[in-house]
Amino acid sequence: MKIGLIGARGYTGGELIKLVESHPEFELAALSSRKLEGKRARDHFETSSDLVIENLAPEDLSSREVDAWVLALPNRLSAPWVEAISPETLIVDLSSDHRFDDGWVHGFAERNAYEIKASKRIANPGCYATGMMATLWPITDLLDGPATVFGVSGFSGAGTTPSEKNDPDVLRDNLIPYAPTQHTHEKEVSHHLQHAVNFMPHVAPFFQGICLTITMTLKEGLGVGDVKSKLIEAYTGHPLINVADEAPRVRDNMGKHTLTIGGLGEANAFDPNRRRLVLNTTLDNLLKGAATQCMQNLNLASGLDALTGIPHSK
Ligand SMILES: NC(=O)c1ccc[n+]([C@@H]2O[C@H](COP(=O)([O-])OP(=O)(O)OC[C@H]3O[C@@H](n4cnc5c(N)ncnc54)[C@H](OP(=O)(O)O)[C@@H]3O)[C@@H](O)[C@H]2O)c1
Repeated sequence: MKIGLIGARGYTGGELIKLVESHPEFELAALSSRKLEGKRARDHFETSSDLVIENLAPEDLSSREVDAWVLALPNRLSAPWVEAISPETLIVDLSSDHRFDDGWVHGFAERNAYEIKASKRIANPGCYATGMMATLWPITDLLDGPATVFGVSGFSGAGTTPSEKNDPDVLRDNLIPYAPTQHTHEKEVSHHLQHAVNFMPHVAPFFQGICLTITMTLKEGLGVGDVKSKLIEAYTGHPLINVADEAPRVRDNMGKHTLTIGGLGEANAFDPNRRRLVLNTTLDNLLKGAATQCMQNLNLASGLDALTGIPHSK
């Protein structure tokens, strides 16, 4: 499989290039970045590839021998690229542009591998959305009312375009709340679960990683054991997602392809009087929240095992 990447200079692009490099069936065939035009891939990324980075325009794509294009561009830029790519050629879009589009599959490999395998148009889930979806989709029918999520992300989540949210001077000794209602990932998760989620994101001074504290009310008569068995059932045979008694910390999954849903064994995770359960989920925004998920999607849509080329231990 020849892979082309548009938006190669971004943080997710860098992680994808590493993953493609070590993949047994994939090779890099085209890399596009305006700022890195003319440079060799191996001088900028963790790859031995001699490929020269180009500043491609949508009209250039049809002349490239590429089996799958990954769009790793900021939101709202994908339209001309998608239009220029043949319907027979696979696209995985990392932006939010197609996450609400019925013509695209929302590519969450542990949830809907079957649809991903049959699709040429895959919208990669958002990073926070991945943590929320992973925790909530197996247990949505146990919930009484919306889940509320307090989220903290490392500043790589804000991308490379300079802003307050990735400015080291603003972030030092700081935690910055933003988009307290209607964040795009709140809409994404509520849409794909068909269940309301309230999400309050924050950005922290660490570079990569996400921590979510998820609070929910269980239906009458249910307890933490019901939630735990649903989660274990959902993720048995899915080695990138761990279900743990301890509450995970950001560093547990930082730089790793895994995601941990935990806190299930914490003494005060569940308040039976109010039927209130609190879980914690951590993941790496650039990996399971972006590049790793993209590789799972590329694998499935190419007829490979979802985990091909993704190091995992279980
Ligand atoms: N960062 C994360 O944690 C994360 C997680 C999940 C999903 N995502 C999504 O993945 C996508 C990529 O995010 P990112 O953080 O890796 O990178 P990014 O900094 O948002 O942008 C990726 C690259 O796109 C190129 N670009 C920017 N504006 C462009 C334009 N007008 N035309 C063509 N190219 C342009 C830039 O390279 P040049 O300027 O060199 O062309 C830039 O480095 C975004 O949609 C983001 O929302 C990000």
